[in-house]
Amino acid sequence: MITGTIVRISGPVIIAHDMRGSKMYDVVKVGGDALRGEIIRLEGDDAVIQVYEDTTGLMLGEPVVDTEQPLSVELGPGLLASIYDGVQRPLPVLMQKSGDFIARGIYAPGLAREKKWEFVPSVKKGDKVIAGDVIGTVQEFHFEHRILAPHGTAGTVTDITPGSFTVEEPVCTLDGTTRLSLMQVWPVRIPRPHTKKLDPVLPLITGQRVFDCIFPVTKGGTAMIPGGFGTGKTVSEQTLAKWADTQVVVYIGCGERGNEMTDVLAEFPELVDPRTGLPLIERTILIANTSNMPVAAREASIYTGITIAEYFRDMGYDVALMADSTSRWGEALREVSGRLEEMPGEEGYPAYLATRLSAFYERAGRVVCLGSGERNGSVTVVGAVSPAGGDFSEPITQNTLRVVGTFWALDTNLAYRRHFPAVNWIKSYSLYIDSISEWYVKNIALDWRELREKAMYLLQKEVELQEIVQLVGPDALPESEKAILDVTRMIREDFLQQGAYSDTDSFCPVDKQYLMLRVIMTYFEHMNVAMGRGVTLRQVQALPIRAGIGRMKDIQDTEAIRAMVGDIEQQLSNLVVEK
Ligand SMILES: Nc1ncnc2c1ncn2[C@@H]1O[C@H](COP(=O)(O)OP(=O)(O)O)[C@@H](O)[C@H]1O
Ligand SMILES: [Mg+2]
Repeated sequence: MITGTIVRISGPVIIAHDMRGSKMYDVVKVGGDALRGEIIRLEGDDAVIQVYEDTTGLMLGEPVVDTEQPLSVELGPGLLASIYDGVQRPLPVLMQKSGDFIARGIYAPGLAREKKWEFVPSVKKGDKVIAGDVIGTVQEFHFEHRILAPHGTAGTVTDITPGSFTVEEPVCTLDGTTRLSLMQVWPVRIPRPHTKKLDPVLPLITGQRVFDCIFPVTKGGTAMIPGGFGTGKTVSEQTLAKWADTQVVVYIGCGERGNEMTDVLAEFPELVDPRTGLPLIERTILIANTSNMPVAAREASIYTGITIAEYFRDMGYDVALMADSTSRWGEALREVSGRLEEMPGEEGYPAYLATRLSAFYERAGRVVCLGSGERNGSVTVVGAVSPAGGDFSEPITQNTLRVVGTFWALDTNLAYRRHFPAVNWIKSYSLYIDSISEWYVKNIALDWRELREKAMYLLQKEVELQEIVQLVGPDALPESEKAILDVTRMIREDFLQQGAYSDTDSFCPVDKQYLMLRVIMTYFEHMNVAMGRGVTLRQVQALPIRAGIGRMKDIQDTEAIRAMVGDIEQQLSNLVVEK
């Protein structure tokens, strides 16, 4: 057993002597209270350790014991509906043990040990099994939890029994020697393997028009939501957690203020999955590390989260991982780096910030899962970024921007004007348009992309026109340009704006999204034709169809919206005839 002695304590970072034989990233037990920590640097016989718990009261000379295991998570039945801290300690269990203020050195395993699960084998004696194969299933709420042969195992099934088991009991034996249980363990800093990565050709359907239709992200893609305070990062992450078409959600509340996280913890168990009517928490894993909890555990939380997400991906499911906020994660990294007296990079962040960020987002993807047969799964990562003062030039925003596929820039002015979601349509972008176009053509409409591009073009044109209006007033614009402003207001108010709390519009199906855009663009096209024949803007604006466009959001029947396309054509051609 490797046992050293504490020789230095600096906040969450300690140094221990006599740690010969220790490895990088080994988990250690620090001091008499056995606080959990992780070796993050080795120098001769000295180990530098980040401690996941409050180090107040820790003393020099206290022992440090190396567990000789890397920081790992337990993966198996019992994950769903759990609320963990950054190193997978179940918070409700800790609170039961020690009250709201979690005492130090308290430990509880990530998966409950006493609970029994009904195991149904899907292989039989004599079957050959390779790593990643589904050996059976367990029903967890309404979810089919697939039990996988762990990485590194293979052989012929010599014993497998249906029945009721705890996560530790053997349920299957390979080659008479290898015993598999419902649980496996995985080191969080190492990506879980897969057979191959697939192209990002499937959109993640979120039911949010500005996300799906304008700046889409794919299943297995990556997106960031940067924005100043109060611009809607948390609401967006929660809306996505609620509506995105994935079977599992991992929600990491990272370093936000305690009361904000308390809201999430209090609200989440109440939320109903809008697709199934079941409690949303039953397909969610919450990881909470508020600003008053130790920074090192916050640093670890995103790895804990993504490893859990990869595990569900490996079963063949689509998973969404929400991290709110990665800025607080970066600050934890900065604090630990500062204690290590590393050479600071930009704004005091360590030089390896960029590598860490890209390595994290790199773990997203749609993959062919390990194992025989074709099973596909995905992990989509959406990271909120909270730059101080909403200034996007800071290092976390900039380094994240280089690695993600979709950029949803939240805008303080829009939020102030209560244009929600406050996604700035000029600054935001998606690099997935090409790759998902085929899906849209097949499933929605041939001209989806064309409509989207026309709308984007008009919104860009609006910026120019508004500058002119500011200089010389609206009357200076020709009718045709006033018509553009008329329609861009429609795009903004009747299409882009979408209330997260609306009863009728919090989720908008993709075919409805397309039709809404189609209605607006048809209006624009026919308005131009009519005006070319001498109809005035005022006459167009007086048409009854205008009110209909304003009500589209609340109309559930997509056929009624489709019918509006014809109404628009009709009403505008009538105007021309009347002339
Ligand atoms: N999509 C939305 N629909 C309606 N209101 C929103 C939406 N997004 C944000 N808001 C409003 O903005 C407030 C702040 O949002 P929040 O997500 O807490 O901001 P942030 O996390 O960026 O600080 C919310 O309480 C809500 O009133
Ligand atoms: Mg927030």
